[in-house]
Amino acid sequence: MNWQWSPTKKQFEKRVAIETKWELAKMRLEDIRETGYVPAASQQRQFAELPHMSFSEYIGQENAVERLRAAITAAKRTGKPLPHCALIGPAGMGKTSLASCAADSLDRPAFMTVGSALTNIQDVASLVDAVNGGIAFVDEAHDLARADLPIVSGLLPLLQDFMLHTETGSRPVVPFTMIFATTTFGLLDPAIRSRMGIPYELSGYTAEELSQIAQFHARKQGIISLPESVAQEVARRCRGNPRMCGNLVGEINNFTLAAGGKDIILNDALKAFSVLGIDENGFNKTDWRLLNLLKERPCAISRCAGYLGMDKRTFEEIIFPFLFNSGLVITSSKGLELTTAGTELVDG
Ligand SMILES: Nc1ncnc2c1ncn2[C@@H]1O[C@H](COP(=O)(O)OP(=O)(O)OP(=O)(O)O)[C@@H](O)[C@H]1O
Ligand SMILES: [Mg+2]
Repeated sequence: MNWQWSPTKKQFEKRVAIETKWELAKMRLEDIRETGYVPAASQQRQFAELPHMSFSEYIGQENAVERLRAAITAAKRTGKPLPHCALIGPAGMGKTSLASCAADSLDRPAFMTVGSALTNIQDVASLVDAVNGGIAFVDEAHDLARADLPIVSGLLPLLQDFMLHTETGSRPVVPFTMIFATTTFGLLDPAIRSRMGIPYELSGYTAEELSQIAQFHARKQGIISLPESVAQEVARRCRGNPRMCGNLVGEINNFTLAAGGKDIILNDALKAFSVLGIDENGFNKTDWRLLNLLKERPCAISRCAGYLGMDKRTFEEIIFPFLFNSGLVITSSKGLELTTAGTELVDG
């Protein structure tokens, strides 16, 4: 006998609802399995675990490291939380890594988020509750400046007295450490800024340190051996930036693998640099376009950025610092201009 299901409207709707839920759950599982990507859900937390890194792996930045280690030792000896602090420096220079070292050394829960994810004091409350006396790390903290006033006024008692004031009432939280990382400390609200102690300003890396960072990246990427000559070339061409250093190591490894090689050789590196258009001093085609423009006449920063087809912030964070640190350009009342060394390089 052929049995046919003839549901009522209610039964039918219930079944559709169950099937939809099941399909969604399956899609979610497949997404997670295949891509590691977890689809956004309103109840999802706006923060992730801060990765751990050992101080012994962190290269350079002696002053910041010495200060931070002293502060951590003091906190452990007194039983007080590590004081809130701000890490300042250009993108990719090691702020998150330094916070990861602090988390590793303190051995307390540590979570990270970005300033723009903290839109109200409830967001901050769930982060602070999760860290439970550990580290709440806020990357791109200057984006908090875009948030509305209530988050700032809510943050002040939280940072200062570990008191949380929300619409539903006030309560103490377990004393914790807030670490802000920012490229532009000045954009933070002055009242918050003044509660973050003396900021840790990350300085530049020496060629030797960058070469060690290239080796560190190679180990992280599972590369068995990176010849010292390649590490030094990477150090010379990474614009003084640890993240760029890692990106170059990855690019070079691609060329080695594409050529059917197993171990990286200097030729793979030179091929990668040539394809990427990076010369022996680390300058790329964009740098050269700018240097040639400035050879004609000094030029305002916003005009330089426009000429290169990028926004002012990208120009200021990526193009300008390397040429400035290389002693090729300076700022003056006329805008940006070539130094004598810059003129010699362009003419030479
Ligand atoms: N001092 C260092 N020693 C070893 N590796 C480093 C160091 N600084 C940065 N790195 C490596 O360089 C990469 C970028 O560092 P990190 O993410 O800490 O930079 P950041 O300053 O937080 O950048 P952003 O402003 O974009 O958040 C990471 O892969 C990190 O492991
Ligand atoms: Mg970071």
